Amino acid sequence: MAKLGLREWFAAGRVIAGGEMLRYGNRDGFTQTFEQRLSDLTGADHVLTVNGGTGALMCALAAAGIGPGDEVLVPAYTWMATATAPVMVGAVPILVDIDESLTIDPADIEAKITPYTKAIIPVHMINVPCDMDAIMAIAKKHDLIVIEDACQAVGVRYKDQYCGAIGDIGAFSFNTYKNINIGEGGAVLTSDPTLFARARNYHDLGASMRGHDETYNLETFVGNNMRVTEIEGAMLGVQLSKLGPMLARLKRRRAMVAEVLAGHDGLQISLHHDPDNGVSLTVLFETADAAQAFAGRGGAYVLNDNSKHVYTNWAPILNQRTFHPKMNPWAWANREITYDVDMCARSLDILARTCRIDLTSRLPDFLFRRRVQRRWGQGFPD
Ligand SMILES: Cc1ncc(COP(=O)(O)O)c(C=O)c1O
Repeated sequence: MAKLGLREWFAAGRVIAGGEMLRYGNRDGFTQTFEQRLSDLTGADHVLTVNGGTGALMCALAAAGIGPGDEVLVPAYTWMATATAPVMVGAVPILVDIDESLTIDPADIEAKITPYTKAIIPVHMINVPCDMDAIMAIAKKHDLIVIEDACQAVGVRYKDQYCGAIGDIGAFSFNTYKNINIGEGGAVLTSDPTLFARARNYHDLGASMRGHDETYNLETFVGNNMRVTEIEGAMLGVQLSKLGPMLARLKRRRAMVAEVLAGHDGLQISLHHDPDNGVSLTVLFETADAAQAFAGRGGAYVLNDNSKHVYTNWAPILNQRTFHPKMNPWAWANREITYDVDMCARSLDILARTCRIDLTSRLPDFLFRRRVQRRWGQGFPD
């Protein structure tokens, strides 16, 4: 993540000193300027800043008209928000295995499609892009909407495109752990003007007219409040300037570690769908024990954690529990949906055998290289 510092502090102070906190009170203000810059960077024609990645996913789903009776394909390895967002708009998540790239497996997408499937949410986990060529081809064949969850891959490239701007609509998160970090925040990206207008409507109670030109206005519908203040917009502008250098450093470091690990028996650098643009590195072992032993040397961790990144820990989803029994999308589904902790056993096996290497150290490159050499250079595995 890009470090927060004095520049963000000054940016927030400027907003307070200016006295206009509301983004829609400040046309051409900080938030709008940030959106334009993010649009220029990613190539998405429209960007909407919202209060988080979860909100961004809900906006995207609502924009796409996903609702009761619809099935949405989500990977078994992702932050739980990817699976809860469809529920919040009345649809049900269908779990799909990941493959060795740690992203949704196109073959299992095909296997999980039913007549009720409306959308796929590929998730670019831990800065690793999904196999978007294959996913877009499947979506085209089956007439499905692609909502990219790029919450963990802000600024990451897939071939000549940016994650989040490849499918019909995409979601970013700017929470504390993300590439752009302001504590909490998110964005919706799309090049479709109707999806944009609907997302904007949904994020603003259906008001959808504060300071907007007529072009993208539409008949309003009931929405939520996911707006941000100008403080967020101003801080995001600073963080966006730090994104490129931060990702460039991760890319250099991936190359350094990959070079050192390439010669070792018993481990394999994980499949990556665009290694030339890679900014994160994971390694796959033959056994879970070997992965544990590798992680035990420090500088890496095994991915089958006990947090909400793995479907087996998604209790509200597995138990199909919502805040009110009558607001329960599983009751509206077109068929009986069941979940169990073994349903994506292949994903669990891959996660248990995969270690993520930490590339985020603030050491200068030459010291990082030395540490990598010391840790993994000679005599490993022993
Ligand atoms: C893959 C993924 N999707 C969605 C989200 C939700 O983002 P937020 O926490 O900003 O609501 C996150 C955040 O952790 C995430 O990692």
